[in-house]
Amino acid sequence: LTFTDEFQEINDCSESQKSAIDEIAKGFEINTEKLKEIIESFRNEMNKGLASHGQTVPMVPSYVTGIPTGKETGTFLALDLGGTNLRVCQVNLEGHGNVTLKQQKYKISEPLKNGEARQLFDYIADCVDKFLVEFNIGSSTGEKLDLGFTFSFPVDQTAIDKGNLVSWTKGYTASGAVGKDIVYLLQDSLNRKGVPVKVNALVNDTVGTLLAHAYKYPNTLLGVIFGTGTNGAYFDKISNIKKLRSFSSKADHMIINMEWGAFDNERRVLPLNMFDNKVDRKSNNPRKQAFEKLISGMYLGEITRNVLLNLIDRTLLFNGYSSKDLNNQYFFETEYMSNIESDDTSTLEKTKRILEESLNLPSTTLTDRQIVKRICQMVGLRAARLSSAALSAVISHCNAIESGCNVGIDGSLFVYYPFFKERIKSALREFFGPSADKIELEVAPDGSGVGAALAAMLSS
Ligand code: GLC
Repeated sequence: LTFTDEFQEINDCSESQKSAIDEIAKGFEINTEKLKEIIESFRNEMNKGLASHGQTVPMVPSYVTGIPTGKETGTFLALDLGGTNLRVCQVNLEGHGNVTLKQQKYKISEPLKNGEARQLFDYIADCVDKFLVEFNIGSSTGEKLDLGFTFSFPVDQTAIDKGNLVSWTKGYTASGAVGKDIVYLLQDSLNRKGVPVKVNALVNDTVGTLLAHAYKYPNTLLGVIFGTGTNGAYFDKISNIKKLRSFSSKADHMIINMEWGAFDNERRVLPLNMFDNKVDRKSNNPRKQAFEKLISGMYLGEITRNVLLNLIDRTLLFNGYSSKDLNNQYFFETEYMSNIESDDTSTLEKTKRILEESLNLPSTTLTDRQIVKRICQMVGLRAARLSSAALSAVISHCNAIESGCNVGIDGSLFVYYPFFKERIKSALREFFGPSADKIELEVAPDGSGVGAALAAMLSS
């Protein structure tokens, strides 16, 4: 696939289709000026979050002060909860930036996500137990095994191994966890089940990604997730973290988990349109995670679905017919958008299969499919441009543009969504000019597992 900035052409388009699409496109547009305004506001919100507690962008101190040198060695367990799966890993840090890892994924069912927290954590403890048995892992000294826990939700962290859940995000609602110490909840389940493991570090996935990437590339400034949710973590000077007055340490840097998904919950600068508002209103956390809802994999398909339904209801698409599947909330997956955007057949055959076979729509015309592709492009392009705004804000906050920096990124959107990276790069150039080329955006695979192991090591 070759990247162009051009939108899909639509042939045989009626006047009313054309004007409807143009009008919808306006609602998704972020021009350079708007981009700059968003970056400016993002920087202000960062400063507010560093200055005091309880701000919209909470800028959570991670209490991880060490920067990996790449020379660390040892074997640690890691647990990763927060995306679609639970992962249990054994990570072997070999030094020289090299890592080997064994891992197993376990499905988190909807009833577990939305039931009682105690059941969720008991299930996690069972998975750790299964993993230890399956890979025949035990401690030779009889001491408990150290485990780093990547828990990818907003946590009010008070130490490297302590933090209370502030709120669930990304479709989780399990009761009895908000306000509680997550390490305590997990350790309690492990103890009750007799699993010989000690949880000694709690990190966000972005913090893990940053640590893992820094282990390989010392010039890493930021760890980012563009996946089911979105967020970033970066190294800041402890003297910049004004709200941490009482913290004393020999270190001069600490990783900050920004929780940028909450940026602009007040809706001051983000150009929200009626489709965004509807997705938000019907989500299980309305008026929260405003920024995340425009960017991340959990929501992009749903925004697109709402646009398609609007056009259907105006008889401007699929001859006015929807399908049972398309009528279902969250049934238009972001993965479909990836496949549609990468459909380079002249008759959009892949798109046809998605619409007619996966979504059971009645027979579609080429014009229908071109319209669908165009809508996916609008939603996908806006997500990438907003993502670039977050990166630009952090990079300018840290004055890192002249020296250049590495950004380690994980998450399905960054890894699989066509042109996501190119679109981010091109928006970074709009803001930084040619210096933007000094920013390296790279995939940091398994970041959260490796990072949790590094945190467990730094903590032990
Ligand atoms: C959500 C969570 C955040 C996490 C991000 C990416 O925004 O609140 O903690 O880092 O998703 O997984």
